[in-house]
Amino acid sequence: MRILSGIQPSGKLHLGNYFGMMKRMIEYQNNHDLFCFIVDLHALTTVFDGELLRENTLSAVADFLALGLEPEKCTFWLQSAVPEVTELTWYLSNVTPLGLLERATSYKDKIDKGIAASHGLFSYPVLMAADILLYQAEKVPVGKDQKQHLEMTRDIAEKFNNSYGETFVVPEPEILEQTALVPGVDGQKMSKSYDNTIEIFVPSKALKKRVMAIKTDSKTLEEAKDPDSCIVFQLCKLFASADQIDELADKYRAGNFGYGHAKMELFSLIESRFAPLKEKRDNYLKDRDLIRDILNDGAKKARNIAKQTLDVVRSKVGVKI
Ligand code: ADP
Ligand code: TRP
Repeated sequence: MRILSGIQPSGKLHLGNYFGMMKRMIEYQNNHDLFCFIVDLHALTTVFDGELLRENTLSAVADFLALGLEPEKCTFWLQSAVPEVTELTWYLSNVTPLGLLERATSYKDKIDKGIAASHGLFSYPVLMAADILLYQAEKVPVGKDQKQHLEMTRDIAEKFNNSYGETFVVPEPEILEQTALVPGVDGQKMSKSYDNTIEIFVPSKALKKRVMAIKTDSKTLEEAKDPDSCIVFQLCKLFASADQIDELADKYRAGNFGYGHAKMELFSLIESRFAPLKEKRDNYLKDRDLIRDILNDGAKKARNIAKQTLDVVRSKVGVKI
């Protein structure tokens, strides 16, 4: 089965990205036809500093590689290296009803947060549909925030198929209940654009500071606490085994266990998962030529498929004469 998903280099990658998408993708490389890419063209809708975009892109690539993505087992590339995607975006734009885009909640959220309304931001979902349909992906692992974008992709694929005959696979989203919405330090969805993230790779001192900043209620050390309403507990759940979690929940309920203690447990869970990979990540970051080679190889593989799809599409819409 072909599985595809992308991530924006619009900031440093965080626990929401890891549990919502990256971890599953890395597992899928072993038994599926995996397509994984960094969607730099999408990030252009909100990042207007070329140097920053480049740094974030390299950082996202190094994160994936350090976390275990193996480029020879999958197709791993930069979205912008396959320009066919922008051509497909245009063909899809013409079967995308304006009303569909106007209902996009992520567009409205971004405007509410003060991001300037632009044509790129508005047509973001069409580029995303092109990303998925160009490679005929069957399954798309994402967090819950992408549910509507996937529905739009399905609508656009069906519209095109109805107008021009069966052309695209209509993809299914894969959203997992336990990791659908990882909370940030303020309790909202963890997101690069909310300044509430815990980054995957961050020096220990900064990590501790961030974990200590997680919002909790004002119960005293002695008081019994409700684990299920605590952000720290929700984050611990992502890392620990069922037994460890039961034990932690008991400590919450028993009292004499403060939020500071819980935060220290979370800190060591995060550290023990990611700290051993930091050196590997740093080594990739030091070897930019290697990163470029890996991405160029991936882009070649991706482009091969993209060209085949686009050839069919050009024929169907009538620009190929
Ligand atoms: P961000 O909101 O930080 O900009 P992206 O939009 O680049 O993140 O998301 C990349 C992937 O990570 C998507 O599949 C998205 O659904 C997932 N994701 C992002 N934040 C979370 C979260 N807090 N919980 C679960 N999944 C998330
Ligand atoms: N919109 C997605 C996000 O913000 C990123 C994305 C772009 C994507 N193209 C994609 C995700 C294709 C899955 C498939 O997270």
